[in-house]
Amino acid sequence: MLRRTGSLRASGPCGAGTGSVMTDEASTNGTTRSDPTTGPTTGPTTGPTTGPTTGPTTGPTTGMTTGMTALGGTPRPLALVTGASSGIGTELAAQLAQRGFDLVVTAEDDTLAVVAEALRADGCDVRAVQVDLRTADGVAQLWDVVTGTGRPLEVVALNAGVGLGGAFLDTDVEDEVAMVQLNVVSTLRLAKPVVRSMAARGAGMVLVTSSIASTMPGSFQSVYNATKSFLQSWTEALQEELAGTGVTMTALMPGPTETNFFVRAGMEGTRVGQADKDDPADVARQGLDALLDGKAKVLASSRSTKLQGVLSAVLPDSVKAKVHRRVAEPGQGV
Ligand SMILES: NC(=O)c1ccc[n+]([C@@H]2O[C@H](COP(=O)([O-])OP(=O)(O)OC[C@H]3O[C@@H](n4cnc5c(N)ncnc54)[C@H](OP(=O)(O)O)[C@@H]3O)[C@@H](O)[C@H]2O)c1
Repeated sequence: MLRRTGSLRASGPCGAGTGSVMTDEASTNGTTRSDPTTGPTTGPTTGPTTGPTTGPTTGPTTGMTTGMTALGGTPRPLALVTGASSGIGTELAAQLAQRGFDLVVTAEDDTLAVVAEALRADGCDVRAVQVDLRTADGVAQLWDVVTGTGRPLEVVALNAGVGLGGAFLDTDVEDEVAMVQLNVVSTLRLAKPVVRSMAARGAGMVLVTSSIASTMPGSFQSVYNATKSFLQSWTEALQEELAGTGVTMTALMPGPTETNFFVRAGMEGTRVGQADKDDPADVARQGLDALLDGKAKVLASSRSTKLQGVLSAVLPDSVKAKVHRRVAEPGQGV
């Protein structure tokens, strides 16, 4: 792993002297797209050029492998973060920037531009790609931007995801299908070219934001937990398949974390929605530490979350489903 080998080193302060190219790709971007399963065919699309202002707050912990052609000619590693416009994804992006990475960041809404601008203030090259990842077209647009950089991805954080609370009898199946499209389908669509390209060059690290929810039947959040169980199982299966390829995958398993997640999931009136939660910065830091150490998974971030993870490994599923009802059933908030 990068941290262990110490053979890979990012260059100095983010973007220093690079003449950085930072491009916002709108969702209406009509550039010719490559098939995301077959790799790059298009050149980079560029936007306004703005110089970075500051360096990282901490020295880079990793470096780069081979074949790097930096946007501004500096050999710094490139990372992709999905769902970077808020919560855990914003923290992952900011901490990768601090660790010396250039970034491609993506989300659906306009807030992404604000976050990207803040990341640039940290001094890194940042490409912001505003797309709806629930669609194959959105994933293809994102992959086009990645391949257009001409640079290999050292780190990818497959993080975008939403929740949905409520009784299955009451929830709208279209909302559930949309969540499956984002949490599961878009992750698979993007992971295919990501992992293939990393395996082809024998290096790369993928962080998948799963959840502690993956370990328990999620009564009153049933489809969400199932999406995370899918991701967890799939990630652990690929860890075995990819052994010896130079590509590592790490499952980040947060417990309840203070982000937009619970409001967006309509879970403000639940115990878990109203309870104290973990800090997304701590979750992201533990996730990145695990990724760079080549760990298979990490429960993040508080002691109570880690304890929940331990208990979840021994409790019967039927008991976990009952406990989940207590925390997720609407109207049971404290
Ligand atoms: N918060 C928790 O308690 C918790 C616990 C365990 C796991 N997780 C997981 O952590 C990940 C990040 O969630 P979070 O807690 O940080 O919540 P969040 O603040 O709501 O962030 C969700 C991110 O996903 C993006 N996203 C949503 N729909 C999208 C779409 N259709 N296309 C592209 N991007 C889209 C959002 O961008 P837009 O706003 O632009 O749509 C946002 O950047 C998720 O996978 C979630 O399941 C969260």
